[in-house]
Parts: sequence; C-alpha cells; structure tokens
Amino acid sequence: MKLLFIGDIVGRPGRDAIKQVLPGLREQHQLDFVIANGENSAGGSGITPATAKEIFSAGVDVITSGDHLWDQKEVVDLLANEEHFLRPLNYPPETPGRGSGVFAFKVRSSRRDDRTAQRAVPTNLSIAVLNLQGRTFMPALENPFLIAAEEVKRLREQTKIIFVDFHAEATSEKIAFARFLDGQVSAVVGTHTHVQTADEQIFPGGTAYLTDAGFTGPHESVLGREIEPVIKRFLTGIPQRFEVAKNRVLLHGAVIEIDDVSGNATKIQRVSETLP
Ligand SMILES: [Fe+2]
Ligand SMILES: [Fe+2]
Repeated sequence: MKLLFIGDIVGRPGRDAIKQVLPGLREQHQLDFVIANGENSAGGSGITPATAKEIFSAGVDVITSGDHLWDQKEVVDLLANEEHFLRPLNYPPETPGRGSGVFAFKVRSSRRDDRTAQRAVPTNLSIAVLNLQGRTFMPALENPFLIAAEEVKRLREQTKIIFVDFHAEATSEKIAFARFLDGQVSAVVGTHTHVQTADEQIFPGGTAYLTDAGFTGPHESVLGREIEPVIKRFLTGIPQRFEVAKNRVLLHGAVIEIDDVSGNATKIQRVSETLP
C-alpha cells in the first residue's frame, strides 16, 4: 500500500493547499491512504470541527495533532465525536479522545506492479495510526517509549501496517524513538519543528523514518507566521500577535510504500509541492 503523510497544516493557506494539491497527489502517487497533522490548522493554533471537516473533505483520512491540541476550545467536540481525529496517546489516561486507531481502506486496483498484478478487485486492508508526543523541550506527558511499546504490541494483533506521527522537538529523541520501534511499525515520521529534514531512510528492521515532515502552509514566514512580529519578539522579549503568513505556500510531507503482508516499508520519498 502507499500512503501520504502531510506535515502540520498551518491556517487557511495550509488548508487551501490541501484542497488544491491533494486530489492531484492522490492520482499521481496512486495513494491508498492519507494522514495529516492538523494541530495548526485553525488560525495557526489548534483545530476546530470546521477546519477538520475541510481537511477531511479535501481527501485526508486521519488527522493527527500535538502540543497545540488545546488552543481552540471547540477541539473537545472533535475529541469526543471524531474517530478519525487523534491526539498524542501519552496524555494521562483520563484525557478525552484517542491516541490511536485502526482504519479499514481499499488498496487501489488500478495500481499494477508485479506483485499486485493478479489483483482483480480492490483488497480490503487495515492501517493503524498512532500519535505520540516527545518530552524533550516539550510539556511533560507520559513516557512515549513505554506507551508506544505497549500500544504497538496491541495494534500488531490487528494489522502489521502501522504509521506513527511522533510530534517532538529534539532530533535525538525522535531518532531514538524510531530506532526503538524499528521492525515493529511501518513508519515513524516526526512533526512539530515545521522544518523538513533530509534524512528519509528505511532502518534495517524495515521501519521508514523521517525526522520531520515539515509544514504545509506559507513558507515566506517564520514557521508559518509573519516574519516581523517574530523578529520583534526576539529583539524585545515583548509578546506579539503572530499572524499566519500568506506567501510561498508549500505542501510538505512524505510518501511511503509499505508491504501489505509484512508491514515493512519498501520506500520513503519526501514531498515538497509548490502551489500552482
Ligand atoms: Fe507542535
Ligand atoms: Fe505544528
């Protein structure tokens, strides 16, 4: 199967990018499943049912999140009612919402390579998606390594195709986390820094890895926000309003190919798509 993971969608420019580019990418890459991090989709901070609806309508199957989870109070509706919306699993046990899910999908019958050539009809498969948050330079949550180990064991009884969005700041924590899960999950892709890294690879055990997917939104900016207020904040220390920037919108992410049976990744390719 082939999936696309999309890095943090920032504000309206990010949502518009998904609407414009995703249908084409679905065709071009013959995608079976699309996951996107939506933690900055509402005005650059948090997510609401309305912005989530826009993202789902554009062709995203599952939305993940991170430390900006609580920025919009309407998120409680999503946490309570939307099974395709995930928050980091390593919040304390009483936290509303879910940190993982198993989702059914059909492998596209139109994609024919040597191994799938015999397929006359679409095959029904399941993918598990897991969202966790790091703890280095981040708010203190439960230990993501321990929580992931336990959850992956549980998920592997349902499917070997497992995707993890690890929302974290420190590269060392991200690499160590992915190495820890190598061979147990199909892919670990990082989010949160909003800067796409160039270290995509498949580890020896078969887990695809990318330290950070980057972000989907205006790149003539500081991580998606207008440049001047951020500079002013660093110069003076005075809090500023950080409006979402407008220009040079890119869709950032990664396309990952996964063996349906073993769950091992066979290919990972970074995506950086400029809006037409
Ligand atoms: Fe974040
Ligand atoms: Fe973010």
